[in-house]
Amino acid sequence: MTTTAERAVGQPIGRVEGPDKVRGAARYAAEYPVGDDLAYAWVAQSPVARGTLTDVTVDPLVEADDVLAVLWHGNAPRLAEADDPELAVFQSDRISYRGQALALVVARTLEAARRAAATLQLDIEQEPHDSVLRTDHPELYTPEKVNPNFPSDTASGDVEAALAGAPVTVDVTYRTPPLHNSPMEPHATTALWADDDLVLYDSNQHPPGVAASIGGLFGLPADRVHVITEHVGGGFGSKGTARPNAVLAAMAAKVTGRPVRLALPRQALFSMVGHRTPTIQRVRLAATADGHLTAIDHDVVEQSSRLFEFAEQTAVSTRHMYAAANRRTGHRLVRLDMPTPRWMRAPGEAPGMVALECAMDELAVVLDLDPIELRVRNEPSVEPESGTPFSSRHYVECLRRGAERFGWHDRDPRPKQRREGDWWIGTGVAGATYPTMAQPSTARVRRLSGDSYEVSIAATDLGTGARTILTQIAADALEVPVSQVRMRIGDSTLPRASVAGGSSGSASWGWAVTGACRSLRESGREEATFDSSELIKQQEKDGKHAFGAHFAEVRVDAMTGEVRVSRLFGMYAAGRILNPRTARSQFLGGMIMGMGMALHEESVLDPAQGTWVNHDLAEYHIPVHADIESIEAEWLDEQDDQLNPMGSKGIGEIGIVGSPAAILNAIWHATGVRVRDLPARLDKILPHL
Ligand code: MOS
Repeated sequence: MTTTAERAVGQPIGRVEGPDKVRGAARYAAEYPVGDDLAYAWVAQSPVARGTLTDVTVDPLVEADDVLAVLWHGNAPRLAEADDPELAVFQSDRISYRGQALALVVARTLEAARRAAATLQLDIEQEPHDSVLRTDHPELYTPEKVNPNFPSDTASGDVEAALAGAPVTVDVTYRTPPLHNSPMEPHATTALWADDDLVLYDSNQHPPGVAASIGGLFGLPADRVHVITEHVGGGFGSKGTARPNAVLAAMAAKVTGRPVRLALPRQALFSMVGHRTPTIQRVRLAATADGHLTAIDHDVVEQSSRLFEFAEQTAVSTRHMYAAANRRTGHRLVRLDMPTPRWMRAPGEAPGMVALECAMDELAVVLDLDPIELRVRNEPSVEPESGTPFSSRHYVECLRRGAERFGWHDRDPRPKQRREGDWWIGTGVAGATYPTMAQPSTARVRRLSGDSYEVSIAATDLGTGARTILTQIAADALEVPVSQVRMRIGDSTLPRASVAGGSSGSASWGWAVTGACRSLRESGREEATFDSSELIKQQEKDGKHAFGAHFAEVRVDAMTGEVRVSRLFGMYAAGRILNPRTARSQFLGGMIMGMGMALHEESVLDPAQGTWVNHDLAEYHIPVHADIESIEAEWLDEQDDQLNPMGSKGIGEIGIVGSPAAILNAIWHATGVRVRDLPARLDKILPHL
C-alpha cells in the first residue's frame, strides 16, 4: 500500500523525457529518418489577399534541377470535402488570404525546393480586399455562438438604467492587436504512404484528431492514418487541429511516391497556422459610492475570415467574475480577407480580461478605493449569470495572500509618486480565471514482466510535462513507484485521447489513466482499458474555474518611456497541483506570454497589402531572458472533489490571463498614463509623461 507520503502526485519530479531532450535523442516531426528517397517540400504562398489563381508556370531550367513535382489546384489530387476549409488545399482557384498556399514544390533537396518555389510564376487575377477591423464596419454581425459553444450575447436586468442612475461609472474602450503563436518548433510534417496507409510524423496537439481529419480528406478511415507525435516543441493552440502542412506533405508523398518532409519556415507561421483576433472592447461599469457594482457591460468587436467563422469568446469570463444585478455581454464579428483566427493560449480570456481588469482598476481610481478591496466587495456567491454554485472559488484568497506575498499593503494609491533616478515606479494588480474542463479519453494499462506496467493513451506532451504527470498519476493509481511505469503517448494508434488544449489535458487523460490503472489493480487482470466518457457526461455542469491574482511592479524610464517589469507575481487557486516543478514552469510561461502581450507583441497590419508586415522573431517581439527580472508563481492548497479523480484544474493558460492587465495597471500607477491600446509601447507613454 502506498501511503500519502509516498505518493508520486504532488512531487516535483523532473520530466521523464528530459535526458533524451538534452542529449538530442528526442525526435521531432522533421527529424525522423525515413529513407534515402526522402523528398523536401516548399510552399509558394499567395502574394495577394484576394483573387483567383489562373496558372502556375515553372521555369524549365529550375525544374530540371532536382524538382520532382510542382502541385497546385490545376494538377493536385482531389480531396474529399473538408470540415475546415483551410485544409482544402489546392482544391479551388480562390485566394482567400495573403499567405495562402498556392503551390508546393517537391524536390530532392530542401534548397532545390526553395529555389524553385521562389521562381514559380503565379498568374493571379487580384481583387480588392478588406483587412481592417473597425467598430463601424457595415458587415459587423452577431454570431450565433462564440467558442466553444457559448451564447454570443447575454443580458439581465437593465444596464442602461443602472448606468444612468449610478453615482460612479466608467466607460472605456480597450484594443488588443492581432497576435501570433511562436512555438519554438515550427509546424512540420514528414509523410509517407505504406501501401495504401498513411504515416505522418506531425507536430500537433491532438494525434487522433489529425488522423481523423487527414484521413477524411484522403478517403481513409482514421485507423489507416498513423500519426506519430512523440515530442512537440510548443503549440499554444496553433497545433490544436491539423494544419495545411500535414495535408500538403501527405499529398506530395502520394504524388511522388516518396516520403516527403515539409517544415514550415518561421515566416509561414504568421499566415498559415492561425492568429489571435484583434479586439476592440468597450467596458462600461456602474457602481455605488462604496464600490458595489450595479452594472457590467462588455461589448466586443473582433474578426474572422471569409473561409470560416471563428468567434473568440472574449467577453465570456466577464460572465462569472463579479457580482452585479444588471449585466450584458456581447460579441460582434466581421469577416475579412485575412487568415482565419485560431486558438492562442487562453483564447477569449486573455484579451477579454485585459479590458475587464483594466476597467476595474479605472473604477477603483474613480472611487478612490483600493483595487483589491473593489474586487473583494464584488465577489459573487454563485456564478452571477447561470446561478450555478462554484465547485470551488478562492479568488479573494488569491488576492489577499498574493497582496501579502507581493508586498501591497503600504502602497500609495496615487499615481506618479515614486521615482528612483530616471525611473517612475508603480504597482498593479489584476484577476485571472480559466475554465476547468475535461473531455472523454480512453487509456490502457498492461502488466509487463518484472513488476512494471505500460500505460498507453494517444495524448501529446507539448513540453508541458504531460508525460511526466501521467506517469505520476498512473503510479499512484497502480500503487507502485514511478520507476515501474512506462508511459506511451504521442501516437494516434494508442487509445483515443482528447486534444492537448483548453488546459484540459491532465484532467482528461489523467481521468482515463486513473480508471484503467484502478481497474487493473481491482480486477487482478494483466490488462485493462478505461473510457471516461460516461463519468464525464455525468459530471458536466457549469461553475468550474481556476482563479488567480497577478501583481506587477514596473519601472518606466522618464526620458524614454521604456517599461521594465521589475517584479511579476502570480498567486493561483487551481485545484490540486500535480507536479510543482512542471506547474511552476506552466504558470511562469503563461505570465511571460502575458508580459509579451502587455509590452511587446503585435502583428502590424498593412491595410494596402492585407497582411502583417512583421513575420519573424526579429520584428514580432516576444520577451527574452533580459526582459525577465523577478518572476514568481505560488498557489493555494485548493481541495475540490467535484472535478476529476485527481482534484486538478487546468494550469496551462491561466498565467496569461490577467498578467497583461496587472502590468498595464502598474504602468498607470507609475506614470499616470492609461494605455488602452496594447502593446504599451514607449511611443504611447512618452508623450504623456
Ligand atoms: Mo490552448 S489555446 O487551448 O491550446
